[in-house]
Amino acid sequence: MIDFRSDTVTKPTEGMLAAMFTAKVGDDVFGEDETVNALEKKTADLFGMEAGMFCPSGTMTNQIAIKCFTQPLDEVITDQTAHVYRYEGGGIMFNSAASVRLLNGDRGRITAEMIETEINPIGNVHHPHSSLVVLENTVNRGGGSFYTLDQIEPIYHLCRLKGLKLHLDGARIFNALAASGDSAKGYGQYFDGISVCLSKGLGAPVGSVLLASKETIKYARRVRKVMGGGMRQAGFLAAAGIYALDHHIERLKEDHLHAQQIADSIKNLPFVKGLMPVDTNIIIFELNEQKDADHFVEELKHKGILCGTFGKQMIRFVTHLDITADQTQQTIDILKNKV
Ligand SMILES: Cc1ncc(COP(=O)(O)O)c(C=O)c1O
Repeated sequence: MIDFRSDTVTKPTEGMLAAMFTAKVGDDVFGEDETVNALEKKTADLFGMEAGMFCPSGTMTNQIAIKCFTQPLDEVITDQTAHVYRYEGGGIMFNSAASVRLLNGDRGRITAEMIETEINPIGNVHHPHSSLVVLENTVNRGGGSFYTLDQIEPIYHLCRLKGLKLHLDGARIFNALAASGDSAKGYGQYFDGISVCLSKGLGAPVGSVLLASKETIKYARRVRKVMGGGMRQAGFLAAAGIYALDHHIERLKEDHLHAQQIADSIKNLPFVKGLMPVDTNIIIFELNEQKDADHFVEELKHKGILCGTFGKQMIRFVTHLDITADQTQQTIDILKNKV
């Protein structure tokens, strides 16, 4: 099976497994796991942030960040496609008792102008207090669209001016960096919190790191414990993360190339009604009216390709570490020979 359902499906490579087996571990809830400590420091240094905290998932790092940057009755401003809103089970309400103001960005990307008009006036008891902006880069539902740092800079200035915190859901931040050529340290300057996933394009089996100031991370560790995310000998998992940062960042461009090759070869095929621009490793296309998405996915499964639906007529392919150039070509051949 060639599995394009998500970049989360990758299996650890031999090198990664060797790093995991030989990791030096301790009890991370006591702060004694040297591999976890090394991963947290390495990730924080990469982005020029003060501190990091290893968590089992990107959902947890996002939700902890939102908890750290809001008070109950506050409001979070984000795009209507945002993972923190759509795919984290309503966690903003459950964990932080905050409401959400949704914007309609360009493939998930919002601007300072859009945000400014939605910030509630301070001190008016009718309104929730606008306290946090969350950006996602790359944007999953935007078909892997990405912000450049130039586009984020005005949002950062607006947040500073209005006293709002700025958090980045960087589940695929390294894909954004690979596509834009921006530096990780630039991100560290602008964001109060960054969630970096190791288990998407970077190919680790588990884990995300929340980056922020030392003070924020100190509180974040309390929140992680409350959420049940304090892990013990987590260094076996952190070792995979360190390996991923050392070995799997440079190669992300290959995933982008494979996505582009697939997009180029399907855009004029009869079953494709429309294709979103492909900027990174995500391909989203709309099927023509005669094709039902569930049926299409089943048909491809019988031909050895796994992909996902993204709405009634929409299909998503995600390229990743476990998709080779040969498999990309095989996929193109299979798709071209379809109806
Ligand atoms: C944009 C985005 N943010 C956050 C997450 C959450 O990551 P996890 O599945 O590790 O909770 C995902 C997962 O796919 C994602 O696509």
